[in-house]
Amino acid sequence: EHIKLSIDKSLNFVSKEEIFKFEESSKKHLISLHEGTGKGNDFVGWVDLPSRITEAELNDIEATAKSLKDKVEVLVVVGIGGSYLGAKAVNDALAHSFDHLNSGDENPLVLYAGQNISEDYLYELTDILKSIEFGICVISKSGTTTEPAIAFRLLKEMLEEQVGKEEARERIVAITDESKGALRTLADQEGYKTFVIPDNVGGRYSVLTPVGLLPIAVAGHDIKALVNGAKSMQDYSVAAAFEENPALLYAATRNALYQKGKGIEILANYNPKLHNVAEWWKQLYGESEGKENKGIFPASVDFTSDLHSMGQYIQEGQRNIFETVISVAKPNHTVYIPEDKDNLDKLNYLAGKRVDEVNKMAELGTQLAHVDGGVPNLKIEMPQLNEFYLGELLYFFEIACGVSGYILDVNPFDQPGVEAYKSNMFALLEKPGFEEESAKIKERL
Ligand code: PA5
Repeated sequence: EHIKLSIDKSLNFVSKEEIFKFEESSKKHLISLHEGTGKGNDFVGWVDLPSRITEAELNDIEATAKSLKDKVEVLVVVGIGGSYLGAKAVNDALAHSFDHLNSGDENPLVLYAGQNISEDYLYELTDILKSIEFGICVISKSGTTTEPAIAFRLLKEMLEEQVGKEEARERIVAITDESKGALRTLADQEGYKTFVIPDNVGGRYSVLTPVGLLPIAVAGHDIKALVNGAKSMQDYSVAAAFEENPALLYAATRNALYQKGKGIEILANYNPKLHNVAEWWKQLYGESEGKENKGIFPASVDFTSDLHSMGQYIQEGQRNIFETVISVAKPNHTVYIPEDKDNLDKLNYLAGKRVDEVNKMAELGTQLAHVDGGVPNLKIEMPQLNEFYLGELLYFFEIACGVSGYILDVNPFDQPGVEAYKSNMFALLEKPGFEEESAKIKERL
């Protein structure tokens, strides 16, 4: 069994022919991703990563995770963008929703830093860590990104004060380039355990490298099952015919909708554990496709919560959106709605039903309402929320993104646009080397 994509609720808006016109090109783009012959081909190392990653590499990650688990109650993952979103997506999808209230989980709690520059966030994090045994996993491919560098400087100093330099060394793991960047120099000098982010894997495609796998293993999840799931989707996306191939069909359908003026895609879920899968997906699709004045704008909602807010816009606002729903077929737990003899809330008609049955009817009712309101719907069905199907889902989104970017005729593996804010920030902060930019930007203020 694999995750499934249904496109039938889009066919009122775009014809099968308009989707199938991308059949040949999407197959060709899949081959060029595998053969490394398309745009940005020096960044396609993730394409066969699930089948290439070795047992020995996974064992090394698990062994490092174990030694951290033995020492710490909290692991702070320091990274931004592709250097933390994958780990957060998987960890939040698999964690107990109330892990922070001591759910009985023996594994360390994974927290995140370096994904913002909020002084209050860093104050409160360092304050709470004062009385906690913690470790740090610092992740930066370039090794020079400002946000994680600031957080790491603070946390490293604090950890060294708390447990001494020798012990701090044992609790810090760095994941960075093999030879370049400030973090590599620092890690080598301090003698930290390190893992390498391969040159040919960009940040947003790195969840199946140690970048994602180490924090996921520390949180107690089965990284081998996650990689197996990804491998299962890698194989399936190569073997399956177009009409059964979720990745090719997704890439084709969203491009067909885009050509019909549907410029915004909303990723919806009915399980809040998937909130951060959507955050990861937004980076993946936004950074890969949003360039050269093109691209679908990726947005996300959590249902049914957001049916009581964004639901109004989706039902009746501008008709330039389509919706992709991630639906989990089978919950991991069972809760029945109880009978109440007074029935003052008039809910006895639901008594004896599972909560999920209500959720599924909300999902179906919403889908039909949104289609009636002019919003094409796609549905991705996951049999269950576990490591294996999350691995399938992540790889499905990645490979579909590569194909979709090629259909759009952009390089899905660069992100030139993220530099603009950095150079302005450096100019404003008078970073050495930015003297000319500093002078120019000050004239604008
Ligand atoms: O997708 C990307 O490449 C970016 O989001 C990066 O992951 C992000 O900017 C962090 O970069 P680095 O890992 O070099 O610190």
